[in-house]
Amino acid sequence: MDNYVRIFDTTLRDGEQSPGASMTSTEKLEIARTLSKLGVDIMEAGFPAASPDDLEAVRRIAIEVGNRPDGTRPPIICGLARASRLDIDKAWEAVRHAARPRIHTFLATSEIHMQYKLKMDREQVVERVVEMVGYARSLCEDIEFSPEDAGRSDPSFLYLVLGEAIKAGATTLNIPDTVGYTTPEEFGALIDGILKNTPGIDNCIVSVHCHDDLGLATANTLAGIRAGARQAEVTVNGIGERAGNTSLEEVVMALHTRRPIFGLTTGIDTTQIARASKLVSNYTGIVVPPNKAIVGANAFAHEAGIHQDGMLKHHTTYEIMRPESVGVTRTKLVLGKHSGRHALKTRLVELGYPLSEPELDKAFERFKLLADKKKTITDADLEALVADEFYQPREVFTLDGLQVTCGTMGMPTATVRLRGPDGQVHVHAAIGTGPVDATYKAIDAIVKAPNTLQEFAIHAITEGIDALGEVTVRIEGTDGMRQLDPQREVEHARTFSGHGAETDIIVASAKAYLAALNKMLIATGQYRPVEASARAEMT
Ligand code: KIV
Ligand code: ZN
Repeated sequence: MDNYVRIFDTTLRDGEQSPGASMTSTEKLEIARTLSKLGVDIMEAGFPAASPDDLEAVRRIAIEVGNRPDGTRPPIICGLARASRLDIDKAWEAVRHAARPRIHTFLATSEIHMQYKLKMDREQVVERVVEMVGYARSLCEDIEFSPEDAGRSDPSFLYLVLGEAIKAGATTLNIPDTVGYTTPEEFGALIDGILKNTPGIDNCIVSVHCHDDLGLATANTLAGIRAGARQAEVTVNGIGERAGNTSLEEVVMALHTRRPIFGLTTGIDTTQIARASKLVSNYTGIVVPPNKAIVGANAFAHEAGIHQDGMLKHHTTYEIMRPESVGVTRTKLVLGKHSGRHALKTRLVELGYPLSEPELDKAFERFKLLADKKKTITDADLEALVADEFYQPREVFTLDGLQVTCGTMGMPTATVRLRGPDGQVHVHAAIGTGPVDATYKAIDAIVKAPNTLQEFAIHAITEGIDALGEVTVRIEGTDGMRQLDPQREVEHARTFSGHGAETDIIVASAKAYLAALNKMLIATGQYRPVEASARAEMT
C-alpha cells in the first residue's frame, strides 16, 4: 500500500449542499482555481444534473482548471451523478473536457435508505449498481462509486456491492458515513473489513467520506486512513450538509503535524490553506467560527498571560504548528498612511495576491482611504480590502452615497444613493427600526427585488476602535429559484450571500446587502452585470 493520501475536495458539491452556500459560476471557478493551487488531487466540481447552470459551471471548471497549458498535471475534475443514465450523461457532458475526468455515482446500501428512500431490495440495488457503474465506465476510464450511508450498512452486503461495482468498472470505492453516525473505532474497522473482504479491492483506491454530525468527521477520516484508505473526501472549512463534512485543513494538518505516527503524505501546499479558507467563507457567506481548528481567527492567538509567557520562552510550549505553515502571517504592524504603492504591492505579493497594475491602482486608492481612517494597517486589513474590492460579484447596482441618522432622539433614517444598470442615479430615504434596517429599506425601494434576509453577521477584522468591520449577509429570493439536492432528491430555495468591509459598519452593511442582491439579480437573469469599463464611462 502506498503512503500517499489523495485529497478529494468536495467543497463545490457537498459543500455547496450546505444551507445557504450556493455560489455563482464565476465564484465556483475562482474557488476551483484556488483548490488547484492548493494542490488537491481531485475536485468534485458539482452535480451537473441539478440544472443547466450547474452543468455549465462544472464544464467551465473542467475546461479552465482541468487542463494546464504548461504541461503540468492538472487535478482530476469529477462530477457527481445519481445512479441513472440521465445523471451520468450530464456528468460526462460536463467533465469530459478535462484532461483527467472522473464520474462519481452513488446508490444507498443501508436498510433504512433502501426501504424508505429507494424502495428497492438488495437484489435491485446490486443490479442498478452494476448497470450504472458499467454505463459510466463505457464513457469514462475513471469511475468512483459510493454506497451511500455505508456507515449504517450491513458490512457483508457492502463487500458484495463493492465487489460487483469493481467488476463493473469502478476504480475508486468511496465509503461514506453519510449521516455522521459512526465512531472512529467502528469506521476504522469498517474500512479494514472492506479491504480484507471485498473481491478485487487490491486494484482500487478506497476512499473515506465522513460527515460531522457527532463532531467525529476528522477522527473517523483519520481512522479510515490508518486502516488503509488512500483518498480522503473533504471540504474547505468543513462546510457541508447539516453539521458539515470533514474539513480539509484538519485532515491535512493532522497528517502533516503527526507525520511520525501516520507516515503518510499529501500533495497539499499547506501555505495556501488560510487563503482558500477566506475565499470559501467570503463566497459562501459561511463565517468561520473563531475557535475553528487551523483556520479560526483564534487558532494561533495566544492571549492568556500564562501562554504568552510560555510562548516568549519558546513557541513550542503552546504551539504545535507554525502559523506560517498554513499561510497565516504573524506580522501585526504592516503599513501606514505614509506607505507607498510599491510597499503595498510588495506586501500583497507576499500575501499571495499578485494584482495586475489596474487592480493595484484600485487597491492603492482603497488603501489610502483606509489609512486616513486607521493608523495601522495589518495583513488582515489588506486581505479584507482585497476581498471587498476583487472578490465581489459583478455589479448591477452600486452604492453611490449613504447618509444615516440614528440614536435615541428620533427615528433611524437612511438616505441611499445607488447607480443603476442604466447608469442613472436613484435616491431614496427610508426610516427603520435601526440604521441597518432603514438602509436596507431604502435599497429595497430602489432595487425592487423581493427577498428575505436570512442571516446578518458582523465582526471586527482587527482589534481597536478603528478596526474594519466585515459584514456578511445571506438572502433568499422570493421568486422561487430552486436548487436540487442530489441525495435527498428535494429542491430547496436558492440563497445568495454578500459581504462588505469598511470602517463604517453601516456602509459595510449596505455593500454586503447590495453584493447579495446583485448576485441574485444576475442569477435570475433580470439584469446583466455592468462591465467595469462601461461603469467608468458612466461616472
Ligand atoms: O454523504 C454522502 O453519502 C455523499 C455521497 C453522495 C458520496 O455525499
Ligand atoms: Zn456527503
